[in-house]
Amino acid sequence: MLSKTIQDALNEQIKNEIQSAYLYLAMAQHCESKNLPGSAKWLTMQWQEELEHSQKLIGHMNDREGRVVLGAIDKPQTEWASPLALFKDVLAHEQKVTALINSLYALAIKENDYATQIELQWFIKEQIEEEKNATMVIDQLTMLGETGTPLFMLDRQLGMRAK
Ligand code: FEO
Repeated sequence: MLSKTIQDALNEQIKNEIQSAYLYLAMAQHCESKNLPGSAKWLTMQWQEELEHSQKLIGHMNDREGRVVLGAIDKPQTEWASPLALFKDVLAHEQKVTALINSLYALAIKENDYATQIELQWFIKEQIEEEKNATMVIDQLTMLGETGTPLFMLDRQLGMRAK
């Protein structure tokens, strides 16, 4: 059984994961509009991954007799000045999510909720991956430049994302 405090915090994080999904869908559609199909695919996969994160937390709530209550999500940003600006926003967003997950973990420790701690350990590891992936794209865009052939090649590479 989950405490009310943990349930509220998990509901908040479920909403945050769905908010993240919505942001990545907006980013993917922005890239579609700019004829960057590889970036759009990368971000569409990110959208799906965020939905999986929300489902994972929903599953944890359901398994432990928690009550999932969905909150309102905000309208996401829809335009970015450049691919580099967009991927910098991806990284900034993931850094924010990392802080949220860490706070949630601290709360689970305070509440002596061992099962939630174990569940959140997966998310802590996942955030390392999320920040690493965004940083790599930023570094490559910075290194290669974001016009002409380099952007075309990088976009193709992003389109090869398999998971
Ligand atoms: Fe659900 Fe991108 O972290």
